[in-house]
Amino acid sequence: MENDLYELARRRRSIRRYGAEHIDDGIIREIMKVALTAPTSFGHRPVEFVVVRDRDMIRKIGACKQMGGSQINGADAVIVVMVHTADRRQAEFWIEDGAIASAYILLAVEQYGLGACWVHIRNRMGQARTSDEEIRALLGVPDGYTVLNLVAIGEKCEEKRAYTDSDLHTEHVHLEKYESQLPHRSQRA
Ligand SMILES: Cc1cc2nc3c(=O)[nH]c(=O)nc-3n(C[C@H](O)[C@H](O)[C@H](O)COP(=O)(O)O)c2cc1C
Repeated sequence: MENDLYELARRRRSIRRYGAEHIDDGIIREIMKVALTAPTSFGHRPVEFVVVRDRDMIRKIGACKQMGGSQINGADAVIVVMVHTADRRQAEFWIEDGAIASAYILLAVEQYGLGACWVHIRNRMGQARTSDEEIRALLGVPDGYTVLNLVAIGEKCEEKRAYTDSDLHTEHVHLEKYESQLPHRSQRA
């Protein structure tokens, strides 16, 4: 049985080293179109993005995370994923809403043979304030938004093997009740 999405998903790996290739703006636009189709709670669509291409700004954003932020320095684009959290109704599921959109971005990036990595921001510290506050100040994001994470994107500059069926924790999929599992290989002869 064909499973195009699985073929894409199994190739997606976290890529943290990037080459010098410039990613066409059109590709970034296509990736962001995918992100904008992500489901959101109650259809509120509270997730917004800042696409950052300027290398100096990318470095500054990286410095907003005390530990592990510098890994974005070689990226050709960084997507800042933020959610409108001022409205309490929209804020209830803000993490889920932002995370699903981010996952869509990660998959869309793989479709173009590019590398990407989620870089976490929520509950992380910057130089003097939280990473969220420092990034919003840098990018002029108005009050009422919270940055969940970044997605760094660039030419793949490290080899990572695609997942295969044998990597999958199929035992994590239960059928009807916890004690039984969904058969993952065809039972038919
Ligand atoms: C919620 C979340 C937070 C993550 N935070 C970071 C991070 O801050 N830095 C990083 O390099 N990778 C981060 N990752 C990527 C994971 O480390 C990575 O997905 C995991 O090791 C599995 O590897 P794979 O993506 O190649 O399958 C994060 C992933 C998720 C889902």
